[in-house]
Amino acid sequence: MEKTLEISNLEVSARDGKKSFAILRGINLCAEPNQAVALVGESGSGKTMTAMSVMRLLPRNLAVDRGRILLRGEDILAMSESQMRHIRGKVASMIFQEPSSYLNPLFTVGSQVMEAVKNGEERFEKTMKMFEDVELERNVYFQYPHQLSGGMQQRVMIAMAMINNPALLIADEPTTALDVTTANGIVLLLRKMMDKYGLSVLFITHDMSLAASFAEKIGVMYAGRLVEFSDAAGIFKSPLHPYTEKLIDCLPERYAPGSRIRTVEGSVPDFRQLPGGCPFHLRCPYKITLCTQRKPGPTLIGTTTVRCFKYGDDGQDS
Ligand SMILES: Nc1ncnc2c1ncn2[C@@H]1O[C@H](COP(=O)(O)OP(=O)(O)OP(=O)(O)O)[C@@H](O)[C@H]1O
Ligand SMILES: [Mg+2]
Repeated sequence: MEKTLEISNLEVSARDGKKSFAILRGINLCAEPNQAVALVGESGSGKTMTAMSVMRLLPRNLAVDRGRILLRGEDILAMSESQMRHIRGKVASMIFQEPSSYLNPLFTVGSQVMEAVKNGEERFEKTMKMFEDVELERNVYFQYPHQLSGGMQQRVMIAMAMINNPALLIADEPTTALDVTTANGIVLLLRKMMDKYGLSVLFITHDMSLAASFAEKIGVMYAGRLVEFSDAAGIFKSPLHPYTEKLIDCLPERYAPGSRIRTVEGSVPDFRQLPGGCPFHLRCPYKITLCTQRKPGPTLIGTTTVRCFKYGDDGQDS
């Protein structure tokens, strides 16, 4: 079956005055219909910019240098801006961490969802049906954003994103601003929408446990690279990349109450001054000389793709 999303060798750079520097390198991932793929990684690792590349909504000073992004087999990087307007909302939609920033305070939330429905269709009925799908009562339609809780606002955003039945929903930290119970409700709702509409979800989070509990596949990002792309079921048992191993090692549920909180030592290197070789070598306990000299290319181990010389040397990467 045709994949919903396929990203191959995506490279994005930023311009800063006359200088240009890499933001994303070597991003390869795909999502099958009705599959959830999570992107995890520390702040600044490139999760949102990967999503923005798919929506073709990168900031002005960022541009795709190389690579291919297919949405249901269609090359979106080759599309004009007017063609993209038919893609956004209809083939791929996006929701964000702060729903309130995307809702207009002056209009009822129902009218804002209905806005996305083409004229001529039974717009009100269609909107009401979507409110039912996202488990909001009918009277919420007539309320203003400030009258709703964060969880309800996120449900409105999901209704808006889903109203034209897209194949892909990109959810960028959709639960980060919510308490745990409300967050769980949103995650359950996303799964319900997937099953009802055959939807694929690209789920961005820095929470590895949440990623593994929600998604079938996990992509781990580090300094603008996808260092591991793996089945969620296996990643806790056998993380391959040293960074993935460290992320899992740091999860609070992995150690006894009262023991010291662990972190991955060091911080994400500055994109403007990335070290030569593997970008993780400064923090990696398995570092060998080769890691400081060359960037590891992707190696396939079973169904996992990993970029680390521990698993062989498939040659210089970009
Ligand atoms: N307009 C821009 N100009 C230059 N660099 C940018 C721009 N936007 C983002 N970046 C850089 O791109 C890198 C990736 O950013 P991105 O927002 O994708 O990270 P993220 O993984 O989503 O982080 P977070 O978890 O904090 O949301 C960061 O180093 C960021 O500073
Ligand atoms: Mg982000």
